[in-house]
Amino acid sequence: MSRRDPHSYADLDQGRVTHVDLDLDVDFGSRTLSGTATLRLAAPSSGPLDLDTRTLTITNAATPAGVAIPFETAANDAVMGARLRLQLPAGTTAVVISYATSPEASALQWLEPAQTDGGQQPYLFSQCQAIHARSVLPCQDSPLARFTYQAKLTVPEALTAVMAAAPGEKGPGARAGTRAFTFAMPQSIPPYLFAFAVGDIVSRDLGPRSRVYAEPKTLDRAAWEFAEVDSMLLAAEDVFGPYLWDRFDFLVMPSSFPYGGMENPRLTFLTPTLLAGDRSLVNVLAHELAHSWTGNLVTNATIDDFWLNEGFTVWAERRIHEKLYGLEAQALSAAIGRNGLNDALASFGSDSPFTCLKTDGEGKDPDEFYSLVPYEKGFLFVSLLEQTVGREKFDDFIKKYIRHFSFTSITTEQFEEFLDKELPGVAAQVGAQEWIRRPGVPGNAPSFSSARLEHLKGLAAGWAGGARPQVAAAKQWTPEDWQIFLQALPRQLSEADCAWLDGNFQLTKHGNCEILCNWLAIAAGSGYAATRTRTRAFLGEVGRMKYLKPLYTALHKNPETRALAQETFAEHGGGYHPIARGGIERILAG
Ligand code: BES
Ligand code: ZN
Repeated sequence: MSRRDPHSYADLDQGRVTHVDLDLDVDFGSRTLSGTATLRLAAPSSGPLDLDTRTLTITNAATPAGVAIPFETAANDAVMGARLRLQLPAGTTAVVISYATSPEASALQWLEPAQTDGGQQPYLFSQCQAIHARSVLPCQDSPLARFTYQAKLTVPEALTAVMAAAPGEKGPGARAGTRAFTFAMPQSIPPYLFAFAVGDIVSRDLGPRSRVYAEPKTLDRAAWEFAEVDSMLLAAEDVFGPYLWDRFDFLVMPSSFPYGGMENPRLTFLTPTLLAGDRSLVNVLAHELAHSWTGNLVTNATIDDFWLNEGFTVWAERRIHEKLYGLEAQALSAAIGRNGLNDALASFGSDSPFTCLKTDGEGKDPDEFYSLVPYEKGFLFVSLLEQTVGREKFDDFIKKYIRHFSFTSITTEQFEEFLDKELPGVAAQVGAQEWIRRPGVPGNAPSFSSARLEHLKGLAAGWAGGARPQVAAAKQWTPEDWQIFLQALPRQLSEADCAWLDGNFQLTKHGNCEILCNWLAIAAGSGYAATRTRTRAFLGEVGRMKYLKPLYTALHKNPETRALAQETFAEHGGGYHPIARGGIERILAG
């Protein structure tokens, strides 16, 4: 019996799709993709084959020789989508499915030219994690079902298509006024790593294995911000072993991209909010790079094992950070992470099952229970393992873990078994059961401190008693220093305090979105009216949920600004990604 993924209708005992050939026409007029997906099976199969779909219109299913395959689409489930059941004739090795996506496809955002930097051309991008690949192609949409693929995308001739795959030929499309781009993904991926974008996209080489893609207007800034990518790649290989995806390219997205980054293999997607002009937010690039091992080579079996992806990746991100910028920087980022974890614990309630590392998300929408817990509690647990056995031994363990499970999708239990075999007794010594299966953060969680961190926290702690940082000194603070300080300040400040901070440090005009968002959240929570115009504008400039959620929450909580939250959402919500829009709707309904 194969394991079942509670978020997929796929039954891997019926057959396994191990390769997909796609031929899709991208039509901006109707906001649809249409064409064929040819699913190739690992072995000849017969009888029912259940696939995941969401808002797809299936028009035909046949074998490559043209023998019709009966199919039936079940009713749509709000979380899971609609099961597509094919009845395979005996000995079927491939199925050609003709279909079209819906303008409401949950993985896709179709942008008007006005929503791009250039303002001239439309743009389309996908975001498949966690369970949205099924809205782009019929598939076994579980990380347990890895596949390789080839794709041909036909797009308007003024636009460029890019994919998280190796680019192949491009040439005129079959219809007049179109161009066709081909791609191949020779390494097997879980479906959530399927990704593409179409728009006015150009690129520049940054190193022997890396290139940045962006809209023409953004390319220079992007190339400067991420110029260090090759040294990151080398630092990451030091931690994990060789990079197995050939190239590490990345795409700076339009501002509505709802995440900080997405580790699509060979083509990481990044929010433009990272372009702070001072390289202070490149840790997100390091994070997505680290997923090339933890996540993309060794993949969570289901969303309930998500901490295996994110906890290890945050740990690796901070290891890379430490290598490049030193221990002090590492302590500050760990402290910023711990603040985020504390907020997440507080909002779930610290005995919520969603504060366990291993979760039970059956029947629930992964976008709704997404939080920093798997990231930051996962980071603490991995760091505890590292501290317990010592860095040298742990580094060997990590490299072996990657080698052993490369190109497979594993459960938490498989990780535990491997840990027990390789580092006997360590799980019991650190209380792994409690870490993995109990809510909250155990008492033996590592804490990270540094002189700088204590100094900044001390300054913030003195605030209520009237102490203020020295203005000249604070003007020299790094962006991390500011984040630590702002996060440690009381959540509500007087009007005079807000005015003092803003008057001295021009926070409302700050170009670093982390600092700006932390500040605007304090100001909103304090009912400080002078930042309202900027907050409203900012909520129209960015689509990253990390910024939208706390600011809408703060505005909504205060009766004085509740209407402002509604108006701002009415004004800008249409431009948000569907996942972000859903998240904000839940906040405003609360
Ligand atoms: N894989 C995630 C993004 C994601 C998770 C998308 C779940 C959809 C569902 C990505 O690697 C990530 O964690 N991004 C973070 C970066 C941060 C932790 C450095 C983000 O978006 O903020
Ligand atoms: Zn991640």
